[in-house]
Amino acid sequence: MVKLGVNVDHVAAIRQSRFTEYPDPVKAALLCEKAGADGITVHLREDRRHIQEKDCFSLRKLIKTKLNLEMSLNPEIVEFAKRLKPDDVCIVPEKRKELTTEGGLDIFKYEKKLREAIPQLKKRGIRVSLFVEPNAETVVFAKKLGADCVELHTGKFSDLTGKKREAEFRLILAAAKEAAKNGLILNAGHGLNYENASRIAGIRGMNELNIGHSIIAYSIFVGIEKAVREMKKLLRQR
Ligand code: PXP
Repeated sequence: MVKLGVNVDHVAAIRQSRFTEYPDPVKAALLCEKAGADGITVHLREDRRHIQEKDCFSLRKLIKTKLNLEMSLNPEIVEFAKRLKPDDVCIVPEKRKELTTEGGLDIFKYEKKLREAIPQLKKRGIRVSLFVEPNAETVVFAKKLGADCVELHTGKFSDLTGKKREAEFRLILAAAKEAAKNGLILNAGHGLNYENASRIAGIRGMNELNIGHSIIAYSIFVGIEKAVREMKKLLRQR
């Protein structure tokens, strides 16, 4: 069955918008687990716009599933990950001005930094995933760099419609096949919602989907446990 990692960054974004103590993303994470989430995902951004270091340490201590830290290759963040020791890290590109991650990491451009960071993280027992565009050649290179896993960027698939969406889906399928051929764990995420997630969940070999915005947005109306339960049910149908 495809696993669901719930990204709770948006809970922290509401808190940071007023610098209050609430709503607590850790409390939200525990409710997500209660509703069947298989893991909790957070992105410690360089500008700390939502999740803070202390949230990461509390999550590390309190959640019972697994912790996935999305992170840039900034040396300060790499050092932080080594101290936190999450179960997984997912290395993503990061730009200060973007609203959210805008696409997969250019792993060819950042080869040198990746060759330095990946062994350091793996040595500490952390599983390393690379967030990449759905491109077969990139997936092969992720394996060469020593990644355990790839997370395919589904943002374009989510934004496109009609023929363009189908073309993007074919790229995701081809990249997924390449991941299986290379013995990489296959995850996907970004922009997935209650309308499109089950199609991605139905891809052969899919291990985990990481979903944040749509679940937290829906939870405003139905509560976070119901929002997570409904997403889990959708993924189970595949
Ligand atoms: N996966 C990665 C690598 C991401 O950067 C994000 C956004 O933080 C997500 C998944 C979740 O995306 P969304 O909030 O659009 O569901």
